[in-house]
Amino acid sequence: MSKSEIKRIGILTGGGDCPGLNAVIRAVAKTIMLDEGWEVWGIEDGFLGLIRNRLRRLEIEDVSNILQLGGTVLGTSNKADPTRFAVRYEDDGTPVLQDVTSRVVEHVAERALDAIVVIGGDGTMSCAAGLIEHGIRFVGIPKTIDNDLMQTEITFGFMTAVQTATDALDRIHTTASSHHRVMIVEMMGRNAGWLTLHAGIASGADVILIPEIPFDLDKVCDACVRRSKRGKAFTIIAVSEGAKPIGGEQVVDRVVHDSPDPIRLGGVSEVLSAEISKRTHIESRATILGHIQRGGTPCAADRVLATEFGLAAARMLRKGKFDRLVTYENGLINDCPIAEVANQQRLVPPKHRLIMAARSLGVSLGD
Ligand code: F6P
Repeated sequence: MSKSEIKRIGILTGGGDCPGLNAVIRAVAKTIMLDEGWEVWGIEDGFLGLIRNRLRRLEIEDVSNILQLGGTVLGTSNKADPTRFAVRYEDDGTPVLQDVTSRVVEHVAERALDAIVVIGGDGTMSCAAGLIEHGIRFVGIPKTIDNDLMQTEITFGFMTAVQTATDALDRIHTTASSHHRVMIVEMMGRNAGWLTLHAGIASGADVILIPEIPFDLDKVCDACVRRSKRGKAFTIIAVSEGAKPIGGEQVVDRVVHDSPDPIRLGGVSEVLSAEISKRTHIESRATILGHIQRGGTPCAADRVLATEFGLAAARMLRKGKFDRLVTYENGLINDCPIAEVANQQRLVPPKHRLIMAARSLGVSLGD
């Protein structure tokens, strides 16, 4: 399809929310409306809006004054995979899953959407990749505080989450020092340790535990004891929700059966805290940062990145470059096929320069 054939586009935000979504919506919608005069339709609550046919026409006023707002004005859902949609629930809460792809295809045709800008992480891109097979045209924009999307060095939302987690770690630092405790701060990130690694380094954590480097509990305890012997009467441990002991399992908080990625991790900090107190007799406390990391206003860097991503997506629509994801590589905005990032995760390489930096600074990685 060429530029001249486009009349109407949709915008969808999918998966977990994160700071900067509104900045992207604004950038895409304003550019398209002002430069091209195409209609822009907001799809409500991610793929749920396409399944239920819930869309609304966006005007300039709808996308003005939202740059600094957290969350997404369109709403989102991380449970609306069209190939596994919960059409109803059994009495015990088990979802009855059905493939409702044909409904989505029907609604896109009925609304005459020529292309959809899909803003999301790997789960959302996997859903989009499936729909590309059914003839729906997408341009993808990478979002997630986990920073775990393949083919892009950075996703918007990540830098704000790093700052939020760093602020929390700084606050924990003072209370750890006053009470001479081991304080364990658990961060999100699923199976990727980017958020914990960055916030851990930024806040000067003493121990950083990430999913990519399984930890040895004895080594973690040794690090705490060594610090108290050196007269440092407290230890800060930054731990990813996906961290696990060598030969052990991740701690699962819950299973969301109708989600593209059903496993929700959480609770490893509490397990660690109990074990460390038991083995070292040093008092310990766990703090799970949780959804605080996804909330709030985007930092300036995320607003800029989100705006650049939005403009890149608008350029791709203009050129008729569909089914590709905007990426950021070596300081340049680029793009790659959405299919290449579907169902994949970009993990921290064990020899990443930040891992080596942490080791050089005497930080324990628990191995
Ligand atoms: O992918 C973003 C993320 O916040 C992960 O870091 C976390 O594991 C998950 O989503 C939490 O999902 P939910 O909002 O469904 O609890």
